[in-house]
Amino acid sequence: MTNFVPTREDKFSFGLWTVGWQGVDVFGGAVRPPLSPAEAVHKLAELGAYGITFHDNDVFPFGCTPAERDQHLTPFRRALEETGLAVPMVTTNLFSHPVFRDGGFTNNDRDVRRFAIRKVADNLDLAAELGARTFVAWGGREGAESGAAKDVRTALDRYKEAFDVLGSYAIEQGYDIRFAIEPKPNEPRGDILLPSIGHALAFINELEHAELVGLNPEVGHEEMASLNYAHGLAQALWHGKLFHIDLNGQHGPRYDQDLRFGAGNARGAFWTVDTVENGGYDGPRHFDFKPPRTEDMAGVWESAKACMRNYLILREKSRAFRADPEVQQALRDARVDQLAQPTLSQGETIATLRAEDFDPEEAGRRGMAFERLDQLALEHLYGVAG
Ligand code: GCO
Ligand code: MN
Ligand code: MN
Repeated sequence: MTNFVPTREDKFSFGLWTVGWQGVDVFGGAVRPPLSPAEAVHKLAELGAYGITFHDNDVFPFGCTPAERDQHLTPFRRALEETGLAVPMVTTNLFSHPVFRDGGFTNNDRDVRRFAIRKVADNLDLAAELGARTFVAWGGREGAESGAAKDVRTALDRYKEAFDVLGSYAIEQGYDIRFAIEPKPNEPRGDILLPSIGHALAFINELEHAELVGLNPEVGHEEMASLNYAHGLAQALWHGKLFHIDLNGQHGPRYDQDLRFGAGNARGAFWTVDTVENGGYDGPRHFDFKPPRTEDMAGVWESAKACMRNYLILREKSRAFRADPEVQQALRDARVDQLAQPTLSQGETIATLRAEDFDPEEAGRRGMAFERLDQLALEHLYGVAG
């Protein structure tokens, strides 16, 4: 039993916009004071995080001059140096300013698309300079509320064009950075393009520099669409495309709640940690949550601490589950090991299968013993196993 205190080896990172969210929503204004990026860096380092991530305009205002940009970056850089916090990921704000009312890369207005690509390229320069290895692209405003306004196939041409151009740019500049698309079904647009992990995976196949582009799936975004996040992660891993993750909490299909990780669908969170820990992902455990509007700054830090603590609790539970001899027997009883065997052995053909003496009636009587296995998982989660 550990005391669930995070260390840098746990690779926890947070977006500046998470702890820095002042609580502005569609129904009300700010409930919390602004949090300076430097202060966020110090506080997160103290709490045990290893990294911080940001949108360009979390650190410097939209449209500022290069000199103003440097003025804003200076205390942030200093805080990074003082704490040793890493910047593993950077992303671009292509959604707040009115110019992005119809999105960036897929805006119907060509001038805006050109500006969006330029804004991302500028931010890519900064990301590379700060040593980030992942560049997230969340296209929250790429979408539509109505039918004829957005020609989806043409919009996808333009979406592809943007990634092709930016991929070529990253290669030309010699940047050691990869792009990670973050799917979301809706909000703020009525329907967002690339709404799920599956849509984004298929899109990536069509890109010129597909090897440079992967995914940044978020718990809440998949669950808003009633999809199984852990399954989505597993498929992204299977394709070699899980470049980054956004961990948070969500209660089923409703607005994007961005709860702290481990709140919301707790069972889903258990399988998420189990998949992240055992599925071959070794990137940052990045939290993208919004401390609820009910909280003051003390509540914000409680909420941030709890994201890491819940991850560590679930990691310990997942390890105990995997190490439990009863679970190992239940896994064999459920024939999970058989699934790892190729269905046909070397040299076998359809003719081999036809020649086989198989009794479907007998096989149809065999239960799968999944309930026992799942109950053991729940008992580990509920804290009564072992
Ligand atoms: C959301 C998204 C955003 C993006 C972030 C990166 O909650 O809709 O998660 O928070 O992850 O803005 O661009
Ligand atoms: Mn979200
Ligand atoms: Mn996110």
